[in-house]
Amino acid sequence: MNTPKQIVKQCVEKSDSRFDLWIRLVDSYEVKSMAEVGVYKGDFAYQLLKKCDSIEKYFMIDPWRHLEDWSKPANKNNNTFEKFLLETKEKTNFAANKTEILRGKTTEVIEKIPNNTLDFAYIDGDHTLKGITIDLIRLFEKVRVGGWIGGDDFSQSIWQHTPNYEPTLIFPFAVYFAEAVGAKIYALPYSQFLIEKNEVESFSFIDLTGKYSNLELKSHFNPLEIFKIKMMDVSTFLTGLAK
Ligand SMILES: C[S@@+](CC[C@H](N)C(=O)[O-])C[C@H]1O[C@@H](n2cnc3c(N)ncnc32)[C@H](O)[C@@H]1O
Repeated sequence: MNTPKQIVKQCVEKSDSRFDLWIRLVDSYEVKSMAEVGVYKGDFAYQLLKKCDSIEKYFMIDPWRHLEDWSKPANKNNNTFEKFLLETKEKTNFAANKTEILRGKTTEVIEKIPNNTLDFAYIDGDHTLKGITIDLIRLFEKVRVGGWIGGDDFSQSIWQHTPNYEPTLIFPFAVYFAEAVGAKIYALPYSQFLIEKNEVESFSFIDLTGKYSNLELKSHFNPLEIFKIKMMDVSTFLTGLAK
C-alpha cells in the first residue's frame, strides 16, 4: 500500500495545473467533506465539484464584500463582489445539494462548521500575515485527525503583489504553523502547500519543488531586493501604457 507521501508525490508528478493537482489529491483521498476559504468567482469550487465524485459537502466561505482592512488586489468594490457571488452560484448550481454558502470573513462564519469534521480545507482567502494566521488556526480545529489543510499562494516572495500591498505570508508562516502543531507540511508546485493533521505530532517540511530552502524573512527586506521589485513593477506599468 502506498504511504500518504507516495500518494502526494504521484499526484504531483501527474498534474499539469493547480486545479488538476487538487482534483487528483481530493480523488485519491476520497474527500467527502471540505471547505474553501476565499471563493471569489467560484472557479476552484466548480472544478472540484465537477470532477470529484466523492465530495458530499462543500462549504464556501467568503465575505463577498469590500474589506477596508484588506490590502490586496483582489479586494474589489461591493457591486463587483455581488456579481462574483452570483457567478459562483450559477457555476456551482449543478451541485447545489452539496454546497453551503457561508457568507462572511472566516472569523464571522467558521463556527457554523463543527470541529473535527472536515476531510479537507483549502485556504485561499486573505493572504496577509493576519489572514493566514486566522485561517490556519481556525480551520485546523475543523479538520479531523488524518485530514488535510491545503492552500494557494505559497509564494516564495512575500512581495507577491509588489511592495504596494501587504506582504503575502503563507510562506513561511504555514511552515512555522506546522512546526507549532507537530504536522507534516509539503511544498507543492503551482505555489500550493499541504498540511497533514497527524495523530502523532511530528513536524517535517517536505519540499517537493526544491525551491523553498530559506525559511528566514530578513532577505525579503533587503532594500536592494525591494528596489528591484519596485522597478519591475514600474516597467510592467509602462509596458502596459505603451500597448
Ligand atoms: C484569490 S481569491 C480566491 C480564489 C478562489 N479560491 C479560486 O481559486 O478561484 C481571494 C478571496 O478571499 C476572500 N477573502 C478575503 N478576506 C477574507 C477573509 N477574512 N475571510 C474569508 N475570505 C476572505 C476575498 O473576498 C476573495 O474572494
